[in-house]
Amino acid sequence: MKIVHTIAEIREFVRQARLAGCTVGLVPTMGYLHEGHLELMRRARERCGIVVASVFVNPTQFGPNEDLARYPRDLERDARLAAEVGVDVIFNPPVEEMYPPGYCTYVDVERITENMCGASRPGHFRGVATVVTKLFNIVRPDAAFFGQKDAQQALVIRRMAADLNMDLEIVTVPTVREPDGLAMSSRNVYLDPEQRRAALVLAGSLDRAVEAVRAGERDVLQIRRLVEELIRAEPLARIDYVEIYSYPGLEPVERLQGQALLALAVKFGQTRLIDNVILEG
Ligand code: PAJ
Repeated sequence: MKIVHTIAEIREFVRQARLAGCTVGLVPTMGYLHEGHLELMRRARERCGIVVASVFVNPTQFGPNEDLARYPRDLERDARLAAEVGVDVIFNPPVEEMYPPGYCTYVDVERITENMCGASRPGHFRGVATVVTKLFNIVRPDAAFFGQKDAQQALVIRRMAADLNMDLEIVTVPTVREPDGLAMSSRNVYLDPEQRRAALVLAGSLDRAVEAVRAGERDVLQIRRLVEELIRAEPLARIDYVEIYSYPGLEPVERLQGQALLALAVKFGQTRLIDNVILEG
């Protein structure tokens, strides 16, 4: 497996692969890889001739008071794990390669970025849409792979690719969890043992919501209340949002009909975790 740091090098690598008749799969990441990331890479490996993984902690998607500076990084470990699942090349550009002096172009996806993480992290999806567009233009993949863990992000990318006529397939991969249910995240390493235990309330409360829907509950407000009460019962948890929208349109709903996204963001100390589930009404 190769590691390259410049746009020229990754373009040349992909050009050679295409000449050899390979299709190209792209897995964008911010590194500090875990099983969730590796699952995306395995899916890409199954479907594509070559697999490109990007490892880039994208500054434009972090707010001024967020964890950009302390975001965990370990390229050596990432390279070992990526190689094990069959990644062909890691693209790991420095910030100046992606955002050179004078940079001033951004991609804004409207409407579906106005609620949930879009509301609680202003500018976040603009940064995500911009860097993903750049990665698509640099690598020109046939398929790109995203996790359902970041459900709103996956919808934003899908919408952007359709709206801007980007010629690739967007593949969404189910959320990978720890054996006890906690959704895998690079940010889980920030949790102390107490917070780690408390964080189980996320997956636990989503499960309870799914059970309630199975038992016939259709009132969106009631489902939200149930989840909020369960989370409030955990003293280390501070709710950022608990929301339910139609899926995939992300329109407001009062009663469950068809699919809906139940998504939440909760802070444990300084660490903000997200999780979600699709409710089948
Ligand atoms: P990052 O948080 O590193 O996640 C990279 C990809 O892995 C995303 O598509 C995310 O949804 C997926 N992922 C993370 N945890 C997962 C889990 N437990 N199960 C399944 N998939 C999981 O998301 C980003 O980086 C950035 O916003 C990025 C798209 C790279 C743009 O900078």
